[in-house]
This record gives sequence, structure tokens and C-alpha cells, in this order.
Amino acid sequence: MKSMTWIIVVVTAVGVMACKKEEPAAPAAEDKAAAEKTQPKAPTEPILPLPDEVDVNMEKVLLGRSLYFDTALSGDGTVSCATCHSLDHGGAEPRKTSTGIKGQVGPINSPTVLNSSYNFVQFWDGRAKDLQEQAAGPVENPIEMGAKWPDVVETLKKDAKYAAAFAKLYEDGVTKANATDAIAEYEKSLITPSRFDAYLKGDATAITDAEKKGYATFKEVGCTACHTGVLAGGTMFQKMGLVSDYFKDRGTEITEADLGRFNVTKKPEDKHFFKVPTLRNVELTPPYLHDGSRAALEETVKVMGKYQLGRDLSDAQVNSIVTFLKSLTGELPAHARMPKKT
Ligand code: HEC
Ligand code: HEC
Repeated sequence: MKSMTWIIVVVTAVGVMACKKEEPAAPAAEDKAAAEKTQPKAPTEPILPLPDEVDVNMEKVLLGRSLYFDTALSGDGTVSCATCHSLDHGGAEPRKTSTGIKGQVGPINSPTVLNSSYNFVQFWDGRAKDLQEQAAGPVENPIEMGAKWPDVVETLKKDAKYAAAFAKLYEDGVTKANATDAIAEYEKSLITPSRFDAYLKGDATAITDAEKKGYATFKEVGCTACHTGVLAGGTMFQKMGLVSDYFKDRGTEITEADLGRFNVTKKPEDKHFFKVPTLRNVELTPPYLHDGSRAALEETVKVMGKYQLGRDLSDAQVNSIVTFLKSLTGELPAHARMPKKT
């Protein structure tokens, strides 16, 4: 087994050296292993279908949903997860960068929570290994929810409904670990199968000819080198500005958030590497990119062509790709939203 791993590492390394500059770097061995956990086997297409449903504990999901929409998880009772990850905005937010408690503006655009359990790691820079670990972060982030977990746990314990729901599901009742477990279970349930999935599963009429053409263009020009797997993303880190310098051309100061994966590893070669984001529901989640700098999907696709592929995509190619991308807009499960109070 050990020698097997070694062979894979060597082959990967040789692969990287043999690549021309414009080819995306092969993912590191440990990233590959993490990606394999979330991806189904034996792909025939670069994009893989979402399942129609996932196996979840529905009682945990409903508890997680209450927590997700509850502003009691923030220090001043004004912000919930849904503030920055709105189900009415594709699980992301309609702002360039996030705004947390007391109107504080964050450094980076919020990615979608929809289908996020398929990401090989969480956050743009991959600093959380899974959804449960991720969910602990925003609560204590001073410019997001600005609370302390011990206080949140105390508040939830005093709420009879929460106390009962936690007690039913978890031996030790209300704790930080149990709250983040329930939130993660809710997020795991937020899958959005689309017409494109029906197409991938064999229904040739599920998408239009124009969408098929767009998908062909998407593959032909090389988008699938990075946007692959169940999420059309979420399987690797890649450099923003692989072929030419995006940040120089952007013309605004480079922020800490722009350094991406470097902030986690401190390796100079990881500067400006980000988790390749999912393209599912991308129609619904403007503005785009980690810096929220692009309002239109067309412009974003052009930027990708130029900086990731070294291609000046024509308007016809861009529009065709955007037509395809819209077929990735899916349906949320019925339980995703809080029932209306009567
Ligand atoms: C103030 C806005 C804000 C709030 C509140 C907030 N988030 Fe986020 N969330 C963000 C931003 C911004 C990022 C990206 C940060 C980064 O990558 O550095 C993010 C990232 C994420 C991710 C990672 C997605 C991915 O593709 O990597 C998940 C999952 C997530 N948040 C879930 C939650 C949950 C659950 C809560 C509530 C406990 C929450 N968020 C509260 C702004 C917010
Ligand atoms: C070399 C890898 C790579 C290639 C090739 C690539 N992308 Fe990307 N894509 C990324 C990365 C990395 C990001 C995040 C960059 C950032 O936020 O600064 C991204 C972001 C995006 C976004 C924004 C998503 C969001 O939620 O903000 C869209 C849309 C997109 N890509 C579409 C495409 C299309 C269409 C193509 C082909 C024309 C393509 N990409 C080619 C790596 C790639």
C-alpha cells in the first residue's frame, strides 16, 4: 500500500513538470484523497450528477434549519447564517463582500452553501475540512456573527424548544459540537438536482440543444480542467490568474483575502490559489469571484477565458457557455425553508 501511494505521488510530480505553463497544476496527493471522499466512482463525463436525494437524519436537519435561520447565534441578535447565505440568492449573498454584525464589511464574497457537502474542503482557502468544522467559525468571527459559543450554548439551553430537540437527538444535549453537527446535517440536505442532472442520467431531452451546445463549448475550451466533478468545482485548488496576472490587471490593492491558500500553508507557491468554486446555481449568485468584483456571469466567463485559459472567448462562445451554466440551476428540497409562521 505504501509503495502504491509513492508511485501516485511520483507520477503526479512528473505530470506537473511535464505540463506547459498554461495547464492547471495537478492537485496534490492529499487533495486528491480528500476529493475522492466526496466524488462518486467511474466518471464518464467531467461533470457528475447529483443524487435525487441524500441520506440524512431528518430530525437533525430540522434542528439544523432552526439554528441556520436563528439570529440568536450572533452576538447582538441581528445576524444568522441565512443573512450571508440566503436561500433566495442561491445560498450566497447579493453583496460584493459579506456584512456581519454592526454593519461590518468582510474581506471576501460568501460562497453558496447549496450542495456544499460535496466540496473537498470548505472556504475559499480550504481552511476547514468539513461542514461541521466550518460551521463553528462564523459564530465567533468578530465581523460575522461576533458571539462566543459558551454564550450561544447558554442561550439555546434556556429555550425550551431547543433544549428538548437537542435532548432527543444527543445524549449530552446542547453543546457546540451538537449544534454544528445539526447545522452540517441541514446543509448536507441542501442539494439541488437540476435539468442538467436529468440529462447526465440519460434523459436526452432534459436540456435544450442550445444548452447542449454550451456544454460542448464549456468542455472544448477547457473549463472542465478545473470545473469538474459533482459540483463542476470543489475538487481542487487552482491559481486565480494561472495564465496572466489577474491581480495586476484588477488594479486595486492586493488584500490578505486575495492570497487565498497561502494564508493556510504560508507557502509562496500557494499565493492566489483558491478552491475552484462550484458552478451549480451560479446563475443565482452574483456578484462573482472571491472578491465579488464581477456583477455579470458573461463577464466572469470572459475573465476565466482570459486569465485561466489564455483564450479570448468570443461573445458567441461566452453566451453559449452561460446558456449551459443556467441549466445547472436546480430545485431546493421542500424542507429547506422555514415553514411560514401561522
Ligand atoms: C457575515 C456573513 C456570514 C455569516 C453570518 C455566515 N457566513 Fe458562511 N461564509 C461567509 C463568507 C464570506 C465565506 C467565505 C469565507 C472564506 O472563504 O474565507 C463563508 C463560507 C461558508 C461556507 C463554505 C462554503 C465553501 O464553498 O467553501 C459554508 C459552508 C458556510 N459559510 C456556512 C455558514 C453557516 C452554517 C453559517 C452560520 C453558522 C454561516 N456560514 C454564517 C459569510 C458568512
Ligand atoms: C485553471 C483552472 C480554471 C479554469 C480552466 C477555469 N476556471 Fe473558473 N474558476 C477557477 C477558480 C480558481 C475560480 C475562483 C477565482 C476567484 O474567485 O478569484 C473560478 C471561478 C469561476 C466562476 C465564478 C464562480 C463564483 O461563484 O464566483 C465562474 C462562473 C467560472 N469560474 C466559470 C468558468 C468557465 C466558464 C471556464 C471556462 C471558460 C472556467 N471557469 C475555467 C478556476 C478555473
